[in-house]
Amino acid sequence: MKRALLVVLLSGALVACNQTPQERDGETIYNQSCFSCHERGHGGAPVRGDLEEWQPRLAKGKDVLLKNLKEGYNGMPPKGACFDCNDQELQKVLAFILDPNNQ
Ligand code: HEC
Repeated sequence: MKRALLVVLLSGALVACNQTPQERDGETIYNQSCFSCHERGHGGAPVRGDLEEWQPRLAKGKDVLLKNLKEGYNGMPPKGACFDCNDQELQKVLAFILDPNNQ
């Protein structure tokens, strides 16, 4: 009996280890990676949620913005310095930075 319990406990621990780390939301990533430049417009970075600043950039299309975010753009490092961000996370943080409700 004891042995069976141990096996159950051990396999439970293995499953827990296999889980991928929780995907971060846009706000978490923004605060970690984008805040230092985009909160105050450092180095000409468009300010988060400021639609007037974002309008001409949005006119390029969100796909272009996402591409420039991934590859880096002038003063901005690739992935906005979130080097461990996956594509989904970059999409989420892009949506967060563009949303005027987050002002
Ligand atoms: C080191 C400073 C810096 C960091 C960190 C940074 N950015 Fe930027 N970002 C900039 C600057 C500067 C520009 C404007 C570049 C230009 O137009 O010349 C910019 C432009 C952009 C653009 C517009 C690109 C375009 O095609 O017009 C997007 C989208 C963007 N940043 C998103 C992000 C996101 C999301 C993060 C965090 C994951 C981030 N940035 C982190 C400095 C930064």
